[in-house]
Formats: sequence, structure tokens, C-alpha cells
Amino acid sequence: MSRVSHHLLLCATPSKALCCPDPELGVASWARLKLLVRDLGLEDPAREEGIVLRGKADCLRICAAGPILLIWPDGVVYGGVSAERIEPILRQHVIGGVPIEDWVVARYQFGGHRQRSG
Ligand code: FES
Repeated sequence: MSRVSHHLLLCATPSKALCCPDPELGVASWARLKLLVRDLGLEDPAREEGIVLRGKADCLRICAAGPILLIWPDGVVYGGVSAERIEPILRQHVIGGVPIEDWVVARYQFGGHRQRSG
């Protein structure tokens, strides 16, 4: 069984287009996320910290300032996740363990609590 370090959920091309009305922006972010998760070795089963899973979400209940990226188990929600923001988020937060606070729009905690940032 693979160990998992993080699960990344990206709301980039939602069916109701509430957080990300420009589909091109979301498509580019999703493509960049898939590419970099692979190229940075985050899917490698031999990775000591565990693999990084990623998936598309249809809505993460933020519904503004998309694309929206939720990172588990940290519960950190990023907004405005353009393709250009994907690499810094992966390097600084997922690999380095330090969230990029300026881009955080909310935080979730296990137990259903959501805290707005800023
Ligand atoms: S539609 Fe993207 S968070 Fe709700």
C-alpha cells in the first residue's frame, strides 16, 4: 500500500463556473498541476514522505477567486491558482511544508470547521 503525503484537489473547471468563469485559466492550471506533480517526483512510490495525489473537484465551497486549490491534510485553501502559481505552491508548501500565506483564502480543519483568511 502506498503512503500518501498530500491530496491536492483543484476546482478549475467547475460545471457551474462559480469560482472560475474562464475555462481556459482552469484548464491551464490543471495541466500544469498534473505535469509538475509527475516531474517533481511526487508520484514516485519510493518517495520517503509518500506520494502526492491530485484530483479535479467540481466545487470546494469557496466559489470565488478561482481556480481554488485545497491541500489535505493541511486544510489549506488557495485562491487565484493560475498555472504560474502551481510550481511555487508545490515547492514551498507541498515539498517545503510552508504555506504561501498571501494566496491562502481559507483553511479547513477536520471536524467541518472553515476559517476565512485575511
Ligand atoms: S465552484 Fe469552485 S469552489 Fe465552488
